[in-house]
Amino acid sequence: MNEILIKKNLAPNVWLMGIFSPQVAKKAKPGQFVILRVVENGERIPLTIADFDKEKGIVYIIFQVVGKTTAILASLNENDSILDFVGPLGMPYEHDPNDKAYLFVAGGLGIPAIFLKVKMLYSEGKKIDIIVGGRSKENIFFEDELKKYCENLYISTNDGSYGKKGFVTDVLKELLESGKRYDEVFAVGPILMMKAVVDITRQYNIKTLVSLNPIMIDGTGMCGGCRVLVGNEVKFACVDGPIFNGFDVDFDNLLKRNLYYQDLEKNAFEEHKC
Ligand code: FES
Repeated sequence: MNEILIKKNLAPNVWLMGIFSPQVAKKAKPGQFVILRVVENGERIPLTIADFDKEKGIVYIIFQVVGKTTAILASLNENDSILDFVGPLGMPYEHDPNDKAYLFVAGGLGIPAIFLKVKMLYSEGKKIDIIVGGRSKENIFFEDELKKYCENLYISTNDGSYGKKGFVTDVLKELLESGKRYDEVFAVGPILMMKAVVDITRQYNIKTLVSLNPIMIDGTGMCGGCRVLVGNEVKFACVDGPIFNGFDVDFDNLLKRNLYYQDLEKNAFEEHKC
């Protein structure tokens, strides 16, 4: 169980893995995630379910090596197994069936978190535009896969090596200023990016959902690790989210909480590399 059946390198330090987990694959829905533990005494990390194959019992995850746990995970190969692979967790993505036009904005490693939703909406005949952004051309992946399910795929890179030079929010601004309108915008990526998207869509009063990825430990609403402030209420991203109304999220609070652990994570990663 939890055997790695597929391992592919998508971009520098970004890996796709197909994990054999029929129980998770059977129940998985767009928007949900898994929590995995790679080795005994290792930390638990949440990862979005990027895709799944119910018949073959495979769940696909995509991750970037950013710390000790993801470095250990990336060192595993096909036929190795992951110690714990728990899910599906979180509330599935819900949308208004009357909405017709959607815009997805994915920055950094946000692509895995939009893929299943895009596929589902496409199968319902919705109109979909997508903006993806990364630091550089080599950080853009899944382009061909996304193109199959959308009308327009806009790309931005910070260094201008591919697509428009700048940020996803520059493309978003341009689209909205040119008169494009959507029933829903869905943003996922770095906290500051999601905050910037919401600041723009608020001016146009376009419903905007965001997918949050705070620190998680148990994934069951018990530990409080993933506490976020939404509409001045405390919510737990693992059980109440990870998707929330972007207009209600206190992004500054989320940023502060995520920074608490940055040094610890950095130190663990440095020690692991030694
Ligand atoms: Fe523990 Fe959400 S991860 S409450």
